[in-house]
Amino acid sequence: MVALDGPSGTGKTTVARTLATRLNSGYLDTGSMYRIVTLAVLRAGVDPADPAAVAAVADTARLGVGTSPERPSALLDGEDVGTGIRLADVTGAVSAVSSVPRVRELLVAEQRRIIADVVAEVGGIVVEGRDIGTVVVPDAELKVYLTASAEIRAARRSAQDSAAGREVTVAAARASVDRRDRLDSTRAASPLRAAGDAVEVDTSELSIDQVIVALSELASRRGLLRGAAESTS
Ligand code: DC
Repeated sequence: MVALDGPSGTGKTTVARTLATRLNSGYLDTGSMYRIVTLAVLRAGVDPADPAAVAAVADTARLGVGTSPERPSALLDGEDVGTGIRLADVTGAVSAVSSVPRVRELLVAEQRRIIADVVAEVGGIVVEGRDIGTVVVPDAELKVYLTASAEIRAARRSAQDSAAGREVTVAAARASVDRRDRLDSTRAASPLRAAGDAVEVDTSELSIDQVIVALSELASRRGLLRGAAESTS
C-alpha cells in the first residue's frame, strides 16, 4: 500500500496513477471524493460555509469512485461527474466542505472500506490525498509527501487547466493555490502535513518521469514491486 500526500500542483495524480499501473495495483483519488460531496452541496443550493447543512448533504449523497489507475471514475447518485468536479466552482468550495468534521468522518470510513476491498481483490493500492499517511492508512508500507514551490505549482495548474480547455492565468492559479494551501493546512480537522515517517520529495526541479523513477525505486526497496512490472522500471 502506498500513501501519496501533498498539496495540489505537485504532480501527485499523474505520479499516483503511473505508479499504481507499474505496481499492478488499484488507485484511489480521495480528493475526487471531497469534490463529489462539494458538487452535491452546490447542487443542493447549500452554503459551503454552513457545516451543519454541508454535513446533511454528505449524509445522503451517494458517491461512487472507480479504482482503476487507467480509468478512474467519479459518480454522484449514479451520474458520471468526472468533468463537473474539476470545474472552478467546485475547486473554489472544496476546502470549506473538506474542513467539515462530519464530511471527513464519512469519507475516511468510506476510503478505508474501498482500500480494504481493493487490497483483498488485487493485492495493493496507491492512495493519493492530503491525510492518507497521517490518518487514513498510517500503516502504509510506503508514505510519500510530494512538495514543490507555490510558483511552480501555480504554473503547472494553469497549464493543466489550459490543456483541459479552461483558460486560467498563472496569477489566478497562484491565488487559488495559495488560498487552498492556507485553508487545507490550517483547518482543525486533519490539516495537510507530512507524516513523520513519510519520504519527502521536492518535485520543483524534477520532471514527472524523474519523480516516477524515484518513487518506483522506493517502492522496489520496500518490496512493493514484487510480481509487478520490475522489468519496466
Ligand atoms: O487533490 P484535489 O485537489 O482534487 O483535492 C481537492 C480538495 O480536497 C483539496 O483542496 C483538499 C481536499 N482533500 C482533503 O481534505 N483530504 C484528502 N485526503 C484529499 C483532498
